[in-house]
Amino acid sequence: MARIKDYIDSTPFTKEELLTIVDLSRAIRDAIQAGYYPPLLKNRTLGMIFQQSSTRTRVSFETAMMQLGGHAQYLAPGQIQLGGHETLEDTARVLSRLVDVLMARVDRHSDVADLARFATVPVINGMSDYNHPTQELGDLITIIDNLPEGKRLEDIRVSFVGDATQVCASLGFIITKMGAHFTQFGPVGYQLSEKYQDILRANCAVSGGSFTITDEADLGYRDADFVYTDVWYGLYDAERSENEYLSAFMPAYQVTSAAMEMAAPHAKFLHCLPASRGVEVTSEVLDAPYSLAFEQAGNRLTAMRGILVYFTPPVVLNAAAADEAKARIERLMS
Ligand code: CP
Repeated sequence: MARIKDYIDSTPFTKEELLTIVDLSRAIRDAIQAGYYPPLLKNRTLGMIFQQSSTRTRVSFETAMMQLGGHAQYLAPGQIQLGGHETLEDTARVLSRLVDVLMARVDRHSDVADLARFATVPVINGMSDYNHPTQELGDLITIIDNLPEGKRLEDIRVSFVGDATQVCASLGFIITKMGAHFTQFGPVGYQLSEKYQDILRANCAVSGGSFTITDEADLGYRDADFVYTDVWYGLYDAERSENEYLSAFMPAYQVTSAAMEMAAPHAKFLHCLPASRGVEVTSEVLDAPYSLAFEQAGNRLTAMRGILVYFTPPVVLNAAAADEAKARIERLMS
């Protein structure tokens, strides 16, 4: 079966395909930690389109390319227009001739989906208003690296506390895809929509996983091996004010030390970052020994290396044509 060209959403991928990317990412990490930088992307170029600011996604993509022998070009917010003066289709066609692989962080999911449709090179979704699939794989790596003793991936329970952000949706996608249990603990009106729940249900039907959506703290935290939260307001919430979020979430949905005690005794804390300290999570939790948030940020780089290597088509050397071109260049240079 032909490999899917783009990484826009984890949904079309099988559990086995996603775990192959995870294994590849972890193997490259081991190689680099041992001092060997495999030149798997030598001479390859990544075009990075950002419609919003970013620390982890931008830096991890750029570092990954450099470490594997390639190069990344940062196309800052407003520097190129997606669907503006130049149509998105034309932008995709042009960039496909200038770089080997593209990533885009966009305001609207349809923009990154259309970019993938029109580009002939692979396109990776660096976050949209719908999902955050590279975060998913970094988080999966962190979870696999920190499985509770005696538990398999399929046995774990992961509780997301807070708003139905794209990170919440993505966490639900990857956890149910793996056959584990996902919970969203969030207030009514801020819970994953039916559209998202349909995907979780479809994943569970294949994987044997399960999910719960609740506004009851006891159920939200019960037996959780991992407790995850994300900011309550930020990039994609223009329709609601900060005060509306605070009155819906504070204090019931703030992850505190007392709240962590409702989870399993060995529970770890996760956060995609950036965090608003003292809002969705206290500093006491974010800086606790059980917090994996900064290890998780490091695994954005682990995941980016594997994703870039998996999706960037390898160079196919035509030795005869290369020798002929080399001879022509040498003649012209003599
Ligand atoms: N978690 C995450 O995507 O961080 P950035 O917005 O800094 O890329």
